[in-house]
Amino acid sequence: MKHKVTLIKKGFHKEVSIEDGTSLLKCIQSNVNDFYAPCGGNGTCGKCRVNIQEEGGHVTSCLYPVERDITVFLPEKSEMKVLASQYELTKMVALSPGESAQLVTIPYGVAIDIGTTTMVFYIVNLLLGAIVDIVTLVNPQSRYGADVISRINYGHENPKHLANLQTPMIDAINAVIQEYCKRTDVGIDDFVKISVVGNTTMLHNLLGIDAISIALAPFTPKFTTAQLIEPQKLGIDINLKGAVVLSPSLSGYVGADILAGLASVDTTKLKDNFLFIDIGTNGEMILVTPEKTLACATAAGPAFEGANISCGMGAFSGAISAFNDGEMKVIDDITPKGVCGSGLIDIVAYMLKASLLSPEGNISEDFILFKADREEENITLTQQDIREVQLAKAAVYAGIIRLLNIAGKSVDDLDHILLAGGFGNYLNISSAITIGLLPNLPRSKFIHIGNSAGSGAVLALKSEQFVEQIEKMKEYIQYIELSTDSEFPLEFAMNMNFDID
Ligand code: FES
Repeated sequence: MKHKVTLIKKGFHKEVSIEDGTSLLKCIQSNVNDFYAPCGGNGTCGKCRVNIQEEGGHVTSCLYPVERDITVFLPEKSEMKVLASQYELTKMVALSPGESAQLVTIPYGVAIDIGTTTMVFYIVNLLLGAIVDIVTLVNPQSRYGADVISRINYGHENPKHLANLQTPMIDAINAVIQEYCKRTDVGIDDFVKISVVGNTTMLHNLLGIDAISIALAPFTPKFTTAQLIEPQKLGIDINLKGAVVLSPSLSGYVGADILAGLASVDTTKLKDNFLFIDIGTNGEMILVTPEKTLACATAAGPAFEGANISCGMGAFSGAISAFNDGEMKVIDDITPKGVCGSGLIDIVAYMLKASLLSPEGNISEDFILFKADREEENITLTQQDIREVQLAKAAVYAGIIRLLNIAGKSVDDLDHILLAGGFGNYLNISSAITIGLLPNLPRSKFIHIGNSAGSGAVLALKSEQFVEQIEKMKEYIQYIELSTDSEFPLEFAMNMNFDID
C-alpha cells in the first residue's frame, strides 16, 4: 500500500508517494537537500522534528513511520540553523539515569522545561537515550497572571491558591504521559524518572511552596539545591518507585532553566570570554571569563513578550514577527493581529533608521503598521510603547555592562554571545544592536543556541552526574543582585536613549 506525503516549506511544495511504513525522515531526505538530522536518524538528537497537519503538531520524523496520507510542514532555514548550533554546542553525556532506570526493561522518562508562559515536555527512551516525542503546552498557571510576580502574590494569599497553581501543572504532566501511553504500547509504570528545570518561581509552585520570599528583598528563594522527590508525593502518576528530580537554581531570578541551559553547553568549543543570555520578562545572563563567572537578572519587563505594548502579543499565529523596510512577516501568513517581541525590535530599529524616532525616543505621531478596515483595528505603535521598549532594552544592556565592569572586561573582550530561549531564536541581531539591546559586535560572535533549558532538562534526565555538575558549577558563579548594585541605576539611565551612529 502507498501513501501520499505532501512536503511544504516556503517556496517549496512537493507531493510524493511512498510505501506504507517508510520512515518519514527517509522520505524527507530523498526529496529535500538540506534537511537537518544530525544524529543520522538514531532518534537521539530530537532535531529532525516536523509539523504534521493530520497529527495536529510535531513529530520526530526519524521515529515516525508513514501509515496514512499526510501533509508535512518543514522548518525554515533560520530555524534549522538554530537547531544546528544547538546540537553542535550541546554537551554529550554518558547515559546514567540512576537506579530508577533499573525498574523495568525499557525505561522511559520525561524532561520538562517549565517556563512562565509554556511547558515543554521531552519524552525519552532511557534505554537508548532517544527523544521519542516533544510536547509543548501553554503553562496552565497563566490564568493566574502573565508574570511571576502576579503568580507569587496570588499563591501567597492562601493555601488554596497555592494548590491552584500547583495542581494544573501536575495534571498537565500526568496528561502528557497518559496521552503518550495511549498512542503507544508504553505503560505508565514504564515511566521511571521525571527531570524538571524552570525558573525558580515555577519550581516553587510545582512543589506547592509559597514563593513570596522571591518577590521581597533580599529575594531569597526557599530552596536552590537539587530536589529528589517521590512521584506520588506530588501526585505524579508514574512508576511508584520512580524519581522526580528538580535541577538546582542559583537565585530567585536565575533559575534552574538558566543553570541547566549553561551546563548543557559544551564550552570546550568556545573561546575564553562569553556571555550566555536569555531574554524574556527578565534578561537573565551569565558572563563566563577565565577569572570569574558572574550572573545577574535584569527586570526587562514583559515588553519583549508582547505585554505592556498596545498592539503587543506573544509569538503566535497572526503576530508580526519580523519587519524590514516596510515588509512584514506574519506568523502563519494571515492578516496581522499584533506584534511580538522580535517584530517589535525590528520595527523600532526601522523607525530609528528612517528618522521616525528621535534618539531620545520621541515620535511625532503614532506609527501605523497595518491599516485595517476599521480604524480601531489598526496595528499602531504609540509613544508609550516606545517607552516600554526603552526601559526593557536599557535594563538588559545595563546588566551586560555591569557584569563586564565587575569582571574587569569590556564589550570588545567578548568572544561570543550565546542567545538562548525562544525570543533569542527569532531575534534579528542587527535590529537588536540598532536599538541598543545587544552590544555592537561582529555578527559572527552571536550564536543562537535554541532552547538550551530543554537540552539541560534532557541531560539531567539522562545523567545523574549532570545534576551534580550543575551543583558544582554553582560554587564558582557569583550572583550580582542588580537591585542593590550602586552603579546599575546610572548605567540604566545612560542606556535609555537610542544611540544612533
Ligand atoms: S535525526 Fe536525530 S532524532 Fe531524528
